Amino acid sequence: MYLTRYDEKILDGEEGWGKKKAMEILVAIGEIYGANKLIKIKNAHISGASYKNLGDAGLEFLKNLSMDSKVAVDATLNPIGLDRMRWEWMDIDPKFVEKQIEVLSAYKKMGVSDVCTCTPYYLKNIKPGDILSWAESSAIVYANSVLKAKTNRESGISALASAIIGKTPNYGYLLKENRTPNISITLDDEIYDSDYGILGFLTGSLVKDKIPYFFLPSTPFDDDLKHLGAGLASSGSVALFYYGLFSSKYDKKQVKKNLDRAGCLDKEYPIMFDDEIEITRNDIDEVYKDKKHKDADLIVIGCPHCSVSELKRINQLLRNKKVKKDFMICTSRYIKDKYKDIIDKIEASGAMVICDTCPVVSPLKGYSCAMVNSGKAYNYMPTMNKIPTKIGTTEECINESLIK
Ligand code: F3S
Repeated sequence: MYLTRYDEKILDGEEGWGKKKAMEILVAIGEIYGANKLIKIKNAHISGASYKNLGDAGLEFLKNLSMDSKVAVDATLNPIGLDRMRWEWMDIDPKFVEKQIEVLSAYKKMGVSDVCTCTPYYLKNIKPGDILSWAESSAIVYANSVLKAKTNRESGISALASAIIGKTPNYGYLLKENRTPNISITLDDEIYDSDYGILGFLTGSLVKDKIPYFFLPSTPFDDDLKHLGAGLASSGSVALFYYGLFSSKYDKKQVKKNLDRAGCLDKEYPIMFDDEIEITRNDIDEVYKDKKHKDADLIVIGCPHCSVSELKRINQLLRNKKVKKDFMICTSRYIKDKYKDIIDKIEASGAMVICDTCPVVSPLKGYSCAMVNSGKAYNYMPTMNKIPTKIGTTEECINESLIK
């Protein structure tokens, strides 16, 4: 991989231990994947922020790195293991809190923003074609597929190395030739709300690391695409998908327009898909039936973190109602502070709007069944939190929270 003279100086340790380590990581990745050079990034998003995942070894590494390293570009952080204001309500062990704050301090010392969220795209101005270095699978797939930017599936450590150097190895999804869809997924029935997360969860495991092209019955909203991508990236390792209307399946111009917008190599349609998958309404309904008989004692909405439009809808559904169960609505502190009036109205119902964290990355315990509206949370909570989890629509989750 070609390195500039300055890159080489960094690699030789002339710019300090932290930068040398970061450059070593990028060079190793670049060599494994056959990158030709390092290219500049607009910003970075770093995962691996929860002490639950990092442990003491990760914390020590971050502390050492923070002694002589600063990020060179705008860098944001994924959720940590607790809400900094409401950790007591979450029943988090004070020892865990202490360690988590040390992790956060190390990141802050390096210049990383402490708005801890998995939806950094609500804070940043991302334009089509922007080169990013993002970790957090749901954010990666959103950046590539909805925002039409370009990022590889970075790990927490590679995104942090890129943030320190301000560059990333040029390979994979950054190259046009690797952005061509190679599997089609057709759904011929209308879907809404959490159906999208379930569609992602169901197809991610079939698609694995391929690039699906969804032919859908109607145009999804951005929130729908967020849930579709999060589900896909949780059961598979999808980093990019395309979508268009079912009715446009044979409309050459429309399909080509979609491919061009996402920075795909100029391709004549029809593309040769390796495989074609059909999903039915019945396939989605089967997932809703799982654990439906169990009463939930925890309701979670906001995986990935809620957008403003999702919060507005929750507010409407909760108006003049009182919740009778623990109800966590996760969003970023940026959105919570900016839309205080909506948050106050939601919390008047007794639901808690939680920031900085989510149930999956926090050491949440003590619940017998959770109900969620997200395909990703439905997939992860039973394994990461050992909490049996069922899925319903947003409205069903809210209705469940009203029953004692
Ligand atoms: Fe975000 Fe946690 Fe879900 S990090 S995507 S809310 S698992």
